[in-house]
Amino acid sequence: MRGFFITFEGGEGAGKSTQIRLLEQHLQEKGHAVLVTREPGGSPGAEAVRHVLLSGAAEPCGPEMEVVLFAAARLDHVEQVIRPALEQGAVVLCDRFYDSTRAYQGTAKGLTKTLLSALERAAVSDTTPDLTIILDIDAEVGLQRASDRRGEGSVDRFEKDAIAVHQKRREAFLAIAAAEPERCVVIKADRKVDVVAAAIMKAVDSAMKKRKGGSAKREGSGREKSNA
Ligand code: TMP
Repeated sequence: MRGFFITFEGGEGAGKSTQIRLLEQHLQEKGHAVLVTREPGGSPGAEAVRHVLLSGAAEPCGPEMEVVLFAAARLDHVEQVIRPALEQGAVVLCDRFYDSTRAYQGTAKGLTKTLLSALERAAVSDTTPDLTIILDIDAEVGLQRASDRRGEGSVDRFEKDAIAVHQKRREAFLAIAAAEPERCVVIKADRKVDVVAAAIMKAVDSAMKKRKGGSAKREGSGREKSNA
């Protein structure tokens, strides 16, 4: 049986890495084989491209060059890592996937929807997420958290953008969730780690249970219930 593909999305400093670790533990305790991976990167070829993108080396070449590189990295990652793991029945937890391209490059000036969707199809084919957790946080709060975490380290190519750009990306993630409520769950990330983790586990357990039950309809997906 095909495994289960979960992607984590959100702006800077939303706490994705911490939450992925906690979910990995939760799923392993339930007996699942879990693969944790990330984008850009996740395969040797894509990790090399990650460096080119996040160092800012590709920035002078323009947003088209950058979006093609994200797609090239994703294609390699999907073919080398994600698809084989799903075929072996693993639960794959991926830190960012195509919604990051939609939200980050999709809000950049000069890129057409036609180019973005052609690259998306070429990169992923039918390997689309079963569930996407969007960790939602105010852009300023998230950037502050990211900066505290980074300490003396240097800010990356995308984090350095203006606050208004980060706000647009947040809105883009929320728009994706509104357009695809069957796949996406929005979770408020400006809460205690264990509260966020519990909300994520609830959403994941429910989505996996539904898939097992063979129901195409996922109740409880869409925006997180306020008491979760
Ligand atoms: P991260 O390690 O904090 O997730 O850094 C990855 C950065 O790359 C983050 O700023 C988001 C950005 N990014 C895009 O702009 N487009 C993409 O498709 C992906 C996967 C990441």
